Amino acid sequence: MSRSDSSRSITVRVPAKVNLQLSVGPRRADGYHDLVTVFHAVNLCDQVVARSASELALSMVSTTGAPLDVPADHTNLAWRAAVALAEHVGIDPEVSLMVTKEIPVAGGMAGGSADAAGTLVACDALWQLGTPREELHDIAASLGSDVPFALNGGTAIGTGRGEVLTPVLGRGEFHWVFAVAAEGLSTPAVYTRCDELRAQSSEPATEPYVSDLLLQALRAGDAELLGQALSNDLQPAALSLRPSLGQVLEVGEEYGALGQLVSGSGPTSAFLDRDDHHGANIAKAHMATGHVRAVKQARGPVAGARVIG
Ligand code: C5P
Repeated sequence: MSRSDSSRSITVRVPAKVNLQLSVGPRRADGYHDLVTVFHAVNLCDQVVARSASELALSMVSTTGAPLDVPADHTNLAWRAAVALAEHVGIDPEVSLMVTKEIPVAGGMAGGSADAAGTLVACDALWQLGTPREELHDIAASLGSDVPFALNGGTAIGTGRGEVLTPVLGRGEFHWVFAVAAEGLSTPAVYTRCDELRAQSSEPATEPYVSDLLLQALRAGDAELLGQALSNDLQPAALSLRPSLGQVLEVGEEYGALGQLVSGSGPTSAFLDRDDHHGANIAKAHMATGHVRAVKQARGPVAGARVIG
């Protein structure tokens, strides 16, 4: 069968992430920050369908099928992922990609990175490449700091820029509510604000570290303990750029969330719940405030990018 046979298609599901801990060190000479983070994949998923085509094309749609207001061109990480994989093996990127987005755009849940990881897995299968896992990981890391984790999923410690991964062996399943803000935040802007706030407070950034309490909570599958151990060094910066997030986080305290924090660079906020019923109550409370655009319930950990059809 030829690679441009348009009847062939591969469908991949790829999860969002929340950072259970995000410990950010000083800015490096290359503009990035060394960090230690605990990534956790949740079943809030984008879908990537890759179909054989004579040239590269991309469309981005919402779960209702409506076109999304995000660039679907060479600047999109999914597009860049198809090009990077094709270049790696020396072929033309002959694929038509359709990304159906459930992960909030510019929401701090690595939605763009998920689409890149999903595209790598989909194109690898469509083009029948059988690329070794380590090579896919290296291509993923060249596309963005969070892309390797979206390939792997689960729960993992990320070091370096976030691209060096060590799986965390944990127990059980955790229940989450994600409150999605009306407008996204730019990740570089949040990191820059973090540097500015640190400079103003004259507190030097310390070396990033992983919390023992958090690892203990994950190993024991203890949601109460996990709630106490959640932390995000980017949260003050996200709150400074988007003060209304303070009111969103208060809903968690009021409704007895086991813990709450801004997800990554925000502005999505994550609320750890006792169970789905508790999560449904927190979700309802968020909708009633009118401070959020959407509320999603999800569970983690889940697997990374996977072919489903
Ligand atoms: O790697 P990625 O392209 O996802 O990073 C987006 C931006 O986030 C970077 O350009 C940088 O401003 C910031 N960043 C950072 N330190 C990291 C990861 C990301 O400063 N470890």
